[in-house]
Amino acid sequence: MTVDIESLLARMTWEQKLLQLQIVWRPSAAEREALIRRGIGSTFWPPSAGETNAAQRIAVEETELGIPLLVGLDVIHGQFTIFPTPLAQAAAFDPAVAELDARVSATEARSAGVNWTFSPMVDVTRDPRWGRVVEGFGEDPYLSSVLTVAKVAGYQGRALDTGDALAACLKHFVAYGAAEAGRDYNTTDVSDRRLRETYLETFRAGVEAGAATVMAAFNALNGIPMHANRALLTGVLKEEWGFDGVVVGDADGVAQLVNHGVVADERAAVVAAIDAGVDIVMGGSLLVDADGVAFVSPDELRVARVDDAVRRVLRLKERLGLFERPYVNASTASTSATERYRELARQAAERCTVLLTNDGALPLPQTGRVLLAGPYARSLDHLGTWVQHFASPVTESLADALATELPHVDWEVVDGCGFFDATDAAVAEAVERAAGADLVVLAVGEPSRISGEASSRADITLPDAQRRLIHALADAGARVVVVLATGRPLVVEDWIERVDATLCVWHLGSEAPAAIARTLSGRVSPGGRVPMTFPRAVGQVPIHYDHERTGRPPRTGGALLPETIAGFTGPNNTDDYYTSKFLDLPLGPRFDFGHGLAYTTFALDGFEMSRTVVSASEAEAGIDATVRVTNTGDRTGDDVVMLFVTDEVASVTQPVRRLRGFTRVTLQPGESVTVAFRIEADHLRFWADGQHRVLEPGDFTLTVSDCTTEHRLGVRLEEAA
Ligand code: NOJ
Repeated sequence: MTVDIESLLARMTWEQKLLQLQIVWRPSAAEREALIRRGIGSTFWPPSAGETNAAQRIAVEETELGIPLLVGLDVIHGQFTIFPTPLAQAAAFDPAVAELDARVSATEARSAGVNWTFSPMVDVTRDPRWGRVVEGFGEDPYLSSVLTVAKVAGYQGRALDTGDALAACLKHFVAYGAAEAGRDYNTTDVSDRRLRETYLETFRAGVEAGAATVMAAFNALNGIPMHANRALLTGVLKEEWGFDGVVVGDADGVAQLVNHGVVADERAAVVAAIDAGVDIVMGGSLLVDADGVAFVSPDELRVARVDDAVRRVLRLKERLGLFERPYVNASTASTSATERYRELARQAAERCTVLLTNDGALPLPQTGRVLLAGPYARSLDHLGTWVQHFASPVTESLADALATELPHVDWEVVDGCGFFDATDAAVAEAVERAAGADLVVLAVGEPSRISGEASSRADITLPDAQRRLIHALADAGARVVVVLATGRPLVVEDWIERVDATLCVWHLGSEAPAAIARTLSGRVSPGGRVPMTFPRAVGQVPIHYDHERTGRPPRTGGALLPETIAGFTGPNNTDDYYTSKFLDLPLGPRFDFGHGLAYTTFALDGFEMSRTVVSASEAEAGIDATVRVTNTGDRTGDDVVMLFVTDEVASVTQPVRRLRGFTRVTLQPGESVTVAFRIEADHLRFWADGQHRVLEPGDFTLTVSDCTTEHRLGVRLEEAA
């Protein structure tokens, strides 16, 4: 059955149209049923295949129009089988990981009746205080865009109506990640140029990849709350980019226009939001109440706009195949993780760990006495934020997994402290046990609940109790390997150099303990890279590698206090003193974007380019660059080779460099591979302002880097003849 959307629309009353334009935020089961009988167009997942079929049956068979439901849910990094958090996935520098999670998520969720996920979150962010960094892909628009495209491909599959696909939702449009002070939901103020270059870019890539829906953001941007931002929702998204899908509001985001102070009441909010381009309102007052009365009338709201919104919703339902197949097979629906998917989740998790430091303490010895301590030794809290009650739980602790993985090690396990509490006795016990061990594995971190939505932190260090334990062990002279679970980059300055190795494991999902154990043992080599800068201090935030140049870049200095100030006799050298730095910090971050080590070493050499002087048309055709990477150590390992572009002189101040390509390779000892990049004209373009993206002739520097070695080559883009 194909549906004739225009004739369906022509039959709809004003109220029936409005009902297609709302999804109600967390109704009870009875409220949900009443809404569906009334003709509401969307619902949150009921939550089982059977209940979803029952809901669809009411919509299709017992309402006048028989329109099936969009069934939405936040399937963020897994429905039943939980994959690493999105930030962890970004650390893999491998789009296949992001796509795999999305594919498995879509297969599980659609089989159970979900057809729309509120994912991926593609908000670029430079502020680790913001708790939602865990849900995105970090600070870089290029890496984030590549992963956005992978997610859309994974969720949406070959086609939305194949029975194992979900409509993806790019969120939160736009600049939500630029919240002032990193405080969730806070306002944002971003130049048009940076908006284009950084914050809109991931959405543009996702729309181009065919994402079916987009969610408006909670924040105001340059004074206009995004739920009422016509210039961006309609002007840029729908008109300039030709997005023909559905824009959904965030939870109560339309009603909250009143709190933003741009409308006097919720009726005006609904009018402003739909007028601006929101197609489905999430939450808020009912657009049609129990007596069938519409919240807004056709006199208040442009009918053509409402028709356009309804058309978009109906078209999405058609693309999802819902008119033909509204039901799922409840007897074969997923209800929990399978062995096969757990295995895939473990493999994905093994791609995401980042070896931050290592003086040779890792991989762990296969024998000897090792003390496992810290709150993550026995905790099962590895799923990360944004999992729901039906997610399959973690079934073993790190202690269990390590005992299985390294059976010849004589393991001792002690907590030493909780996530937030440490007693003198517990710390003393850990120190005492450490004295009898060859090595301590200290599993510490942020529990899942302190990152994610509404979980901004002003202090992004490890909780005090855990730092106390690290210092106590270091004071006692123990050899310590830290396993750091976290939802965000942390400030680790006080302890990172006091321990012998640190493996960042984020929150790796259902199979985290096995993946961590296999990495610590050396069976798997850590090969991820940090997708967000780790600052030295929260005072450096916002911080990102692709910062614009300043007129006074620091060459030396930082950490000048107190000596310099004590001997300071007056300014006489602007080179050394009046430069852009902090008096009380060494220059630069603790770990730059892209940092990560391996259990082996690599050499990069033979960086070559097909041409070093190009015309604009040759640049359009692409410039080929190659570099050889060799595993120079004696263990198999992964290297990530990144390509950065620097525009040396431009009409607008440019970032010091911008990522334009990356490849992760696995090499055996002694093995070499040639990595190829194609630099396209688009990689050299920049936004001169909010309207114009330009390609300016002149000198560019290309840098290949694997974070331990870098090589540079110049390329000249000639003036047009
Ligand atoms: C609020 C969050 O900001 C958004 O990302 C999510 O999709 C909605 N709630 C629905 O759960």
